[in-house]
This record gives sequence, structure tokens and C-alpha cells, in this order.
Amino acid sequence: MKSLTINHLSKTYFDPYAAKHVTAVQDVSLDVPEGEFVAIVGPSGCGKTTILNMIAGFLPASGGDIIVDSRKVSGPGPDRGVVFQSHALFPWKTVLENVAFGPKMRGVGLKEREEIARDYLALAGLSHAAERYPNELSGGMQQRVGVVRALANEPAVLLMDEPFASVDAQTRMTLQEELTRIWQARRPTILFITHDVPEAVFLANRVVVLSKGRVLEEVEIDLPRPRSWDAMMDDERFKTLSARVLQLVRAA
Ligand SMILES: Nc1ncnc2c1ncn2[C@@H]1O[C@H](COP(=O)(O)OP(=O)(O)O)[C@@H](O)[C@H]1O
Ligand SMILES: [Mg+2]
Repeated sequence: MKSLTINHLSKTYFDPYAAKHVTAVQDVSLDVPEGEFVAIVGPSGCGKTTILNMIAGFLPASGGDIIVDSRKVSGPGPDRGVVFQSHALFPWKTVLENVAFGPKMRGVGLKEREEIARDYLALAGLSHAAERYPNELSGGMQQRVGVVRALANEPAVLLMDEPFASVDAQTRMTLQEELTRIWQARRPTILFITHDVPEAVFLANRVVVLSKGRVLEEVEIDLPRPRSWDAMMDDERFKTLSARVLQLVRAA
């Protein structure tokens, strides 16, 4: 099953400056069923990145467990694709080579991995950029390539940590619309982390509000798809849900 389950996850850091332990994540349980799009939203410092890094296997948990694709997570692995705020593309590789890199690491032959890469690039409307190098692309396009690269690896779960936070507002809206379209077309399992409430509500099927390392509440987002910002901005249900989540985040 390409699903993610977190049971009673916690993380305690040692803060050398205060010379004491700080609990960043406390007893977080969460389920992202196969093909679902779940967003975690919460103010800066509430533990979002810590959770993502534990799921990615970059950071050991202090307690609880993480199950991806029916297996317990004990370190990084290709079953989890990660997209960060900064794209981290290989500057010496073309867009096509960047996107084909994951399949290459999995031992997929040249012809097949280029087919996979071209397929995902086409899906994201990036075919024209296949032979270009990252530094020839705008920031927004680099970030799109980063998303496509993670998808092309066909991970069980896609983990996204504020992937659109550093692009301008208009580009961000386009990227959000693209991501929902791609999600609808391919139905990857996504856990998306953001401090941006409208972004979380626009993208997800369910929004988990995090407060001081704990789950405060989960809100079902029963908005129709496909979703576009043009339609959303006049949608009463979108406004109500956003206001509800915003209220929770502000109380957090
Ligand atoms: N390596 C670390 N050592 C000590 N404390 C940390 C470390 N990383 C994060 N923290 C603390 O853990 C809390 C959660 O941080 P983080 O997960 O980055 O939150 P978010 O991504 O929601 O902004 C914060 O109080 C932060 O200061
Ligand atoms: Mg963070």
C-alpha cells in the first residue's frame, strides 16, 4: 500500500544554548491513505519540518513509529520522495537528466528512464525545457522541475515542505493549480507541509492543524475538483473552510 501512517510520533531536541531538552513533536498520529492529499498547516516553529524529516528518515524519532508502504521507516529510502523550498537540482545535468536521475538510481535503463522523465515533464508542461540546464530557468520553473523529479521516481509517498514558499505570489498560484491537476491525473500519495492556510485548503483533501508539536484538529476539505483559483476566490465553501482553518491556526 502506498500509504503513510504515523503512530504516536515524538521528537525531543537538546538545545545546547538553553542546556535543556525541547519537545518539538509530541504524540502525533496521522494517516495518509493511498492516493490522498493531506496538508499539515501550522505556525512557524510548531514542528512541521521536524515531522517531515523524521518521515523522510533524515532525523531519528524520539518515540513512536512511521509506516510507509507497509514497512517501518528506519532511514531514508526511495519509497519517499522529498521536495523542499529550495529545489536542489543538479546544476551540471539537464532538466531531463535531473528528472531521469531517480529512475537511474533504481536501475532503470536509459531509454525507459528518459521515457518516464519525458512523460512527467509533459504532464507538468515542461517538455520544452527538457534539454536546458537549471540555471537557465526561472525560480518557479526550477521548483516545478524539482516536483517533477520527485514524482518521476514514483515514490510511495511524496513529502513536500513549503515547496512554493520562495516563489512570487502569482507563480505560486500557478504551481498550486498545476500540482492539483497532476495529483488528480496520477493520484500520488502526498503529505504537504505549509504555514500558508489558503494554500493548504486549496490543495488538500484534509488539513491537519499542528500546534506546538501536537495535532490540534483535522479539517476535511470537501471542495470539488478540479480546483482553480479563479473559481475558488468566489467560492463560499472555500471561504468558510479557510476561515475555519485560519481560526485554528491563530488559536494555535
Ligand atoms: N536541530 C535542532 N535542535 C534544537 N531544536 C530544534 C532543531 N530543529 C528544530 N528545533 C526546534 O524545534 C521546533 C520545531 O521546529 P521546526 O520543525 O523547524 O518547525 P516548523 O517547520 O513548523 O517551522 C522549534 O522550536 C525549533 O526551534
Ligand atoms: Mg519548517
